[in-house]
Amino acid sequence: MSVDLSITVNGIHFKNPFLLASGPPGTNARVISKSFDLGWGGAVTKTICLDSSIIINTAPRYTKYRDPKTNNVIGFTNIELISDRPIEIWEKELVQLKKNYSDRPVIASIAASLNQNDWQQLSKRIEATGVDGFELNLSCPHGLPDKQMGMALGEDAQRVEQVISWVKDATKLPVWVKMTPNIGSPIPIVHAAQNANVDGFSSINTILSLAGVNLDTLRPQPTVEGYTTPGGYSGVAVKPIALRHVMEIARACHDDVSVSGIGGIVTGADAAQFILFGASTVQICTGAMLHGYEIIQSLTKQLSDIMEQHAFTHLSEMVGKSIPYVTTHADLVDIQEQAKQQKARPQRDNDWKGEIASETDALITQ
Ligand SMILES: Cc1cc2nc3c(=O)[nH]c(=O)nc-3n(C[C@H](O)[C@H](O)[C@H](O)COP(=O)(O)O)c2cc1C
Repeated sequence: MSVDLSITVNGIHFKNPFLLASGPPGTNARVISKSFDLGWGGAVTKTICLDSSIIINTAPRYTKYRDPKTNNVIGFTNIELISDRPIEIWEKELVQLKKNYSDRPVIASIAASLNQNDWQQLSKRIEATGVDGFELNLSCPHGLPDKQMGMALGEDAQRVEQVISWVKDATKLPVWVKMTPNIGSPIPIVHAAQNANVDGFSSINTILSLAGVNLDTLRPQPTVEGYTTPGGYSGVAVKPIALRHVMEIARACHDDVSVSGIGGIVTGADAAQFILFGASTVQICTGAMLHGYEIIQSLTKQLSDIMEQHAFTHLSEMVGKSIPYVTTHADLVDIQEQAKQQKARPQRDNDWKGEIASETDALITQ
């Protein structure tokens, strides 16, 4: 049996659901082209802003978090900002990228502060390059919030609704909003975004974190001249948190609104779980940084094998299949009680044990 990994989301056709997430893997057209040559289904660019002169990165800016027993990297903290490349360069590169790879969707990640003119100018200029859609970065947890950007907007439902309305007024392209996991419930933000007619959600951005302390120097990491600042946590360790966000968002979404799942994906099995919880596409950042763009081969193979095992012919048949089995704790207690009663019922004449009154009761319909 051959399976079809392609999927159409908000009118955009992806040959497979694997997209580079916004970050170093999509930092310029050269690296995005390389990923397309290797078979990635699409790419979200590193976040573009109007004035890149405000973006000043530090070195170092990453810390790997390792399992003390195996030394495997399980998490990754970064204090990297959005793209420090001028918008004029991005405009040229995106035009060329779309000419060279017309069948490969490019989603432009963009960010601005709470300023209508900036959001509308940014989206109009980038739309003119021929990209396929937008992802609004309302979720970067470090650096940007100091400038009233990123998570400073995305944790506030009113601001989210406002920004999406501005961008929707300025563009005809699909608009996804990238969500922060640094909140208890994403639902008020989902409702606000849907009020503004958002087309999709991308979840999650990184989790605000402190990577650790070097116990020789007693200085926190990543260490910049002896100091640090809280950064964004990503990689395999964040997957369960991301799955919870994706499932809750997908469950609250209108039918025509899509979800792109992000967070700790390294294998086709990881991707399958996001899809079963409602994602139609998945995005990968840290996995590609640590293992290379070549993981696309195993990602597509493993996902195809899982689809074949469960007789899914098209990817869309798999989207959201496991959502109905997530419920409240009170519900779990009821379901468990019902199952217990069911098991206690005599099914065959041989099952009667002599507790005749309770065994009779167990066979009465409720
Ligand atoms: C070094 C680094 C830089 C990132 N830069 C951006 C960015 O510019 N814009 C953005 O929306 N997300 C950015 N992210 C977040 C990722 O796109 C992604 O949401 C997050 O890392 C979780 O996915 P992962 O576990 O596959 O990395 C960055 C992540 C990392 C690790």
